[in-house]
Amino acid sequence: MVTIHIEKVRKTFGEVVATDDVNMDLQDGKLSTLLGPSGCGKTTLLRLIAGFYEPDYGRIYFDDVDVTDIPPNERNTGMCFQNYALWPHMTVFDNIAYGLKMKRVDGKRYTKDAIIRRVNEALELVRMQGLGDRTPHQLSGGQQQRVALARALVIEPDVLLLDEPLSNLDAKLRNEMREEILRIQGELGITTVYVTHDQVEALSISDMVAVMDKGYIQQYGPPREIYAEPQTLFVADFIGKCTFFDGKIKSLGDFINVELNDGQVVSGRTPVEGYPFEIGEEVRCAVRPEDLFLTSTDPKNNEISGVVTQVVYIGSNVEVFFNVGETSAVASLPPDVNLFEGEKIDLYAPREDIMVLPLGGVDALRKIPGHPLYSQS
Ligand SMILES: Nc1ncnc2c1ncn2[C@@H]1O[C@H](COP(=O)(O)OP(=O)(O)O)[C@@H](O)[C@H]1O
Ligand SMILES: [Mg+2]
Repeated sequence: MVTIHIEKVRKTFGEVVATDDVNMDLQDGKLSTLLGPSGCGKTTLLRLIAGFYEPDYGRIYFDDVDVTDIPPNERNTGMCFQNYALWPHMTVFDNIAYGLKMKRVDGKRYTKDAIIRRVNEALELVRMQGLGDRTPHQLSGGQQQRVALARALVIEPDVLLLDEPLSNLDAKLRNEMREEILRIQGELGITTVYVTHDQVEALSISDMVAVMDKGYIQQYGPPREIYAEPQTLFVADFIGKCTFFDGKIKSLGDFINVELNDGQVVSGRTPVEGYPFEIGEEVRCAVRPEDLFLTSTDPKNNEISGVVTQVVYIGSNVEVFFNVGETSAVASLPPDVNLFEGEKIDLYAPREDIMVLPLGGVDALRKIPGHPLYSQS
């Protein structure tokens, strides 16, 4: 098993910067996810780790070995591609055996018996025993995915790379395969990099999540931290739901007072430690629907007043949409509340739950001393 160290990696395609300034450690034996919208650079980063692309700048290490100039077949990684990429004319057995037949250990090839034994073990691992004689078109999508996984794992890689492995499966199969991947990853304890654009999938499966946008890592941390302590507006918006209120900083301290555009003043805290906020600075306050309440026991809680625009019953609770000045906000409230469109509503939010975030995305992170993206220029 290995830890993958990525240092200042950049990859461009002509004028397109696919990924830039990537600094991260993907920990030994853990499942780390690259999460972000289509085109943000996830596949590019995965391929850089596999060695299919060479970075324009920066280095990649497996433990303390610099692999940047080592070709993919010598990095001992197993990769599952988004479309499975099984060879249609080969049996399941031959698909899985292919990598083993190519592989040399100390210059020697595997014996026929060793290949048969290992392929059967891999089939067992993905619960496909007895299906080795089939061809891919005789398999369901989920089974094809299992074969792709077996093919990646049969060479006993140090690193498992999975590119949107569930995106071609229907919802039920997706949950089933997600459990399977977790089981296999746990059984083998293999360093795994998992790519997805689905935030629920990422939060539920990962030890660590890297949220990417436009080629940059916006935040890298455990799922709970990504949700509770978003470091950029993009992360707050992409993970879970948030209402954003624009305003200007009135005062700084343990809590930050922000005057919203409609004149209300709210008190919040920032999850972005070390960012040099200034009085008068334009910021955005983010609040999660579950952090708004109809009653308040603490006089320090914020009161936010608005007008109800829509009430949506979703069983366990109601989603109440309301306008605060020009801003459309949403609160998740108990299912028994009786609210009507057009009604004036006062909601309460604890100071801890109003997240004050700087404008400017990655550029704001560059202003934080000690941050991997910090720049003095
Ligand atoms: N081989 C390539 N040639 C040119 N542009 C590419 C190539 N691969 C990716 N890109 C561009 O790089 C950016 C990141 O792509 P990609 O890593 O595939 O994103 P994701 O996997 O997050 O959807 C996109 O703008 C994409 O169009
Ligand atoms: Mg991709």
